Amino acid sequence: MSPSNRQKEHWGSRIGVVIAVAGGAVGLGNFLRFPGQVVNYGGGAFMIPYLLSFLFIAIPLASSEWALGRCGGRLGYHSPFGIYYAVSNKSRFWGICGGLTGLTPLVISMYYIFVEAWCLLYALQYLGGLMQIYGLGFSLLNEVKPGLQLSSEEYGALFESFTGMTGDGSLFKNAVSPLAIVTLVCAAANFYLIYRGVSKGIERFSKIVAPLVLLCSLIVIARILTLGNPTGTPGQSLIDGLGFMWNPTREVVTESGDVVRTSVLDSLSNPEVWLAATAQLFFTVSICLGATCSYASYVKPNEDIALSSVTATAANEFCEVVLGGLMAIPPAVMFLGIQSADKFGSTFSLGFVALPNVFGQMPAGQFFGFLFFTLLFCAAITSSMSIIQPTLALFQDSLRLSRTVGVLLVCLVVLSGTAFVCWFTKDLAALDAFDFWLANFAPFLGGILQTILIVYVWKLSNLQKEWDGGAIVKLPRFVGPILKYVSLPYLVLIFAFWCYKNLKGRIADVANNDVAQHSLVFIAVLAFGLLALSWFVIERWRKEERQK
Ligand code: ALA
Repeated sequence: MSPSNRQKEHWGSRIGVVIAVAGGAVGLGNFLRFPGQVVNYGGGAFMIPYLLSFLFIAIPLASSEWALGRCGGRLGYHSPFGIYYAVSNKSRFWGICGGLTGLTPLVISMYYIFVEAWCLLYALQYLGGLMQIYGLGFSLLNEVKPGLQLSSEEYGALFESFTGMTGDGSLFKNAVSPLAIVTLVCAAANFYLIYRGVSKGIERFSKIVAPLVLLCSLIVIARILTLGNPTGTPGQSLIDGLGFMWNPTREVVTESGDVVRTSVLDSLSNPEVWLAATAQLFFTVSICLGATCSYASYVKPNEDIALSSVTATAANEFCEVVLGGLMAIPPAVMFLGIQSADKFGSTFSLGFVALPNVFGQMPAGQFFGFLFFTLLFCAAITSSMSIIQPTLALFQDSLRLSRTVGVLLVCLVVLSGTAFVCWFTKDLAALDAFDFWLANFAPFLGGILQTILIVYVWKLSNLQKEWDGGAIVKLPRFVGPILKYVSLPYLVLIFAFWCYKNLKGRIADVANNDVAQHSLVFIAVLAFGLLALSWFVIERWRKEERQK
């Protein structure tokens, strides 16, 4: 059975595919990772490379990935592996590159499900009455009793013990922790929805969940916008919160107690900031994560992808910059002050330590805390489905498996990595290693390769033809050349600059951390598996071609 003989699956409707793709894109990246990165990399100074990358990387790459996906789907392939092979005129090299890009969504999905479970458990804790007086009066965590009012330090301690940051294996020490059980429940929900198929599972579920995410965000934001200056402390109003996010410079207190103004040039001359800003766009728009490519391959052949790609990318940016930006940083500044917001720099501390602290001080904070973590969970589950789907498509394209067997295999592989992350929880070292190498580093390499494939192998003329097919409003002719003359050099330059200045330091960090080394070995084993799979499958396909 050749891939094209497999039963064809399609999205149910055009609006359905846009909601599913936007739902896949809008996730933890928008509401947790983005505000965390803004705080980490200097507030407004981070927004400069971020906005440039949005214009020159996100828009052209996302729309070309839609084109690649639809073309591949027409030829009977639904994973970057099959699609790269097909559009490169059956090149072994490009097929293997496509197979290796499968590593990114696979590894990200392994820890994404774990973080998704944190959101669900926090939402349940708020419902039960965690950290607040009201609630249904239950708690799933031994150390927290309903109605407890926590101090600032206790929020941090709770998060550390809840995620097992205190030591490796601590989620399984005495009895299996509630978090491990909730992680399994989240994984089961993902695999079940994927098993139902793109139209009956992913699309239907996204159509229910997307309005819920929007509604919850708007309610939380309405609350934040009407808080004024809740503590009455100067410098802690909504405007100060927004200023923190958009002013390229700000005053910080040094260790010696002096107040100094940060410099934009200092931030912009740091390649780590450029890498983080561009990688954030790869992550949030789901470029080179296999998701957009795979979802677009289920689009009907005459459907308008130009409009769909722009709509989905714009919806994602609205959710990230407007909703995500308003929901996390301003309230942290309003209740805890700018200096504290600086301290809550890590992605997870902002969402899971600073914001619960804020909700604890806010009138009706328990209700808003519940809404916030519910919307995080709902946004996360549509995204995790979108990054698990490419692995299923990879197994289906290469091994010609039925959906049931394919889902079982994906379940086995993904859960092995999730178990790894759940075990090595000390300081979240495994999760951090997976996140840095697969969500920051790998998409860059993937983005450079994918752009070379599109520009020099598939050719811009084919790209333009694909965009124009079925388009009501055609994409302007300059988008293709931007890919060639701006996006590709931009990616290569940032990547080379970062490798030159920071790669050595990163490697030294890995050399000093056992768990980071185990994580890289784990990733290398998966990469080898994908390489071997792609190699053998391509050899088999070529043999079949010759025998025809
Ligand atoms: N695009 C997804 C997110 O932002 C992966 O969470």
